[in-house]
Amino acid sequence: MSICVPFNRFTLQSPKGQSFKRPLSCHSINQIQVHSLSPLNLSKPCKFSRERLKPISVSTTQTVKTPKFSFRDKNPKEINVFVVGSTGCIGNFVVKELVSRERLKPITASTTETVETPKTSFRNKNPKDINVLVVGSTGYVGNFVVKELVKKGFNVVAIARERSGVGARNSKEDTLEQLKGASVCFSDVTQLDCLEKSVENLGFSIDVVVSCLASRTGGVKDSWKIDYEATKNSLVVGRNHGASHFVLLSAICVQKPLLEFQHAKLKFEAELMREAEEDDAFTYSIVRPTAFFKSLVGQIEMLKNGKPYVVFGDGNLCASKPISEPDLASFIVDCMLSEDKINRVLPIGGPGKALTPFDKGEMLFRILGKKPKFFRVPIQIMDLVISVLDFLVRIFPSMEDVAEFGKIGRYYAAESMLVLDPETGDYSAEKTPSYGKDTLEEYFERVIRNYRL
Ligand SMILES: NC(=O)c1ccc[n+]([C@@H]2O[C@H](COP(=O)([O-])OP(=O)(O)OC[C@H]3O[C@@H](n4cnc5c(N)ncnc54)[C@H](OP(=O)(O)O)[C@@H]3O)[C@@H](O)[C@H]2O)c1
Repeated sequence: MSICVPFNRFTLQSPKGQSFKRPLSCHSINQIQVHSLSPLNLSKPCKFSRERLKPISVSTTQTVKTPKFSFRDKNPKEINVFVVGSTGCIGNFVVKELVSRERLKPITASTTETVETPKTSFRNKNPKDINVLVVGSTGYVGNFVVKELVKKGFNVVAIARERSGVGARNSKEDTLEQLKGASVCFSDVTQLDCLEKSVENLGFSIDVVVSCLASRTGGVKDSWKIDYEATKNSLVVGRNHGASHFVLLSAICVQKPLLEFQHAKLKFEAELMREAEEDDAFTYSIVRPTAFFKSLVGQIEMLKNGKPYVVFGDGNLCASKPISEPDLASFIVDCMLSEDKINRVLPIGGPGKALTPFDKGEMLFRILGKKPKFFRVPIQIMDLVISVLDFLVRIFPSMEDVAEFGKIGRYYAAESMLVLDPETGDYSAEKTPSYGKDTLEEYFERVIRNYRL
């Protein structure tokens, strides 16, 4: 008995936008009804595959009476399933499902109709043929990521706003200059339709999406709008246009979420992982860095003017393994091609030991040639400020962002940017992976030298 599965037609979209329509003939599966594989959900449209498969409908109208001595009465391991077209996109899924369920013993056979592209990962292509869509390209890290991708020869499409940067200070021309080497696409990541149209207009498909989006303010609504919604828009649009890998720049602090932006990021992370669970052909890398170098230069000017270095508590409260922006960008680009970074959440810090605020202060005084001088602020002061702000928000809801900024300040004053050891519940420098070669000390030296110049 054989049941023919009407895998009608499919459309192949090449990376450069050509499409190939081919009929799939003779996809018969011996002795099994495909619609009995419910968790595979073949009737769900393949909305996102890189090859842009057209939605496939599987007929469920054929009812086949079970004969008295049917294979269905046998032990699943004794049921031989002959799968023709096993190398095709759907055929491949069917074989995997058969094997994973350990129910049936599939015997696969290649047909002359080999559908190459699903097997050909973008990872096997030449960088210049890999189309990478970068959102958040005008941000601090996004900009380094674009530079690194361009340097490595990828075909980079950078999505940007017409006025970008802090306080929208950059014009279109500034942005084009900043993102030199990439094709800049001016669009709006917060509007799904707009982003969809912009990417459609590119005329070619996307292999990888890299998101370096982040709320510029950290305010409550803006965090959800950018760290969740806009990032999700870039996933949806990327997938609609063939993306089979998504690299998310997240943050190590989401492992202890107390702030709105952390919840927004976590919600997106969860959806990204679910997407990969539901589609074997789709993968992700979630990068959770510790502190960036640029976040640590805040007090240099004050120290130069003879002021003390301000620390909270005893100065050992919030340790981190700072990573330079070029090293982080290099790690993010590695996530596209390195198999060991696929479908993983990747906390990442820079080289060397973990540094406390006290260590960083001492380092700065040493470079400046000054005697270390610290001003210790009790962390309880921050708690007091937060309680007052929380109280005020109840009366004036419009102050929710001010209260949130207070919480952000408290968080970064007290929490380490290191991996939280699930066994001890403590932050662990040993468990925080290191990457790259740039050290904070060299960076501080460079910044101070430039100040002097
Ligand atoms: N700072 C640290 O030490 C640290 C440590 C670990 C992780 N992280 C994480 O790293 C990520 C990136 O940080 P970053 O410093 O590179 O961020 P950033 O400089 O603030 O860049 C944010 C990016 O998002 C875009 N964006 C923000 N609001 C937008 C809007 N309404 N519409 C369109 N685009 C919008 C910005 O575009 P415009 O230029 O148009 O505004 C910019 O490209 C964040 O998720 C952060 O949590 C930071």
